[in-house]
Amino acid sequence: MREWTREKRLRTRSENGTVALGEMMTELLVAPKLVVLRGELGMGKTTLVRGMAAALGADAAEVASPTFTLVHEYKGRKTRLIHLDLYRLENESELETVGLWEIADAPDALVMVEWGDKFASVMERADAEVSMTEGEVENERLLLVQWRDR
Ligand SMILES: Nc1ncnc2c1ncn2[C@@H]1O[C@H](COP(=O)(O)OP(=O)(O)OP(=O)(O)O)[C@@H](O)[C@H]1O
Ligand SMILES: [Mg+2]
Repeated sequence: MREWTREKRLRTRSENGTVALGEMMTELLVAPKLVVLRGELGMGKTTLVRGMAAALGADAAEVASPTFTLVHEYKGRKTRLIHLDLYRLENESELETVGLWEIADAPDALVMVEWGDKFASVMERADAEVSMTEGEVENERLLLVQWRDR
């Protein structure tokens, strides 16, 4: 995997704060892109995507954890926000079934993949990565956004 060349660190102390960072993040992460969203259960990955949907003009209320439906698509004004959760996916070959590679080729697709770091082929293809970890204070989350110049 090629190295990331750029990074930005962000911090939030509430769920709403994470939504706001998600809104902001659509200026940093512009389609077409495949973005891996890392972080433990309940870190706020889905919350971040909710903010992104709002900023792109999609219906943010629709954004829920896609754990049972592997793929969700939220139609923004110009961008299709594709949200995947691979937590329950067991092997790499199932990614073909999901159609991830076709989706990721679309010029208007901003693909956010929760638990994408489980699979080497996803990391290989990723254009950026967002890692969420717990801060020192309750509800605090530290975000590390990494990407590379094309
Ligand atoms: N700063 C914060 N940002 C986001 N969520 C927070 C924050 N502080 C507390 N929370 C709580 O943590 C939970 C985050 O849930 P969310 O579904 O976004 O996490 P997730 O990382 O997608 O989890 P999963 O891996 O299970 O999909 C929510 O219940 C939210 O209220
Ligand atoms: Mg989630």
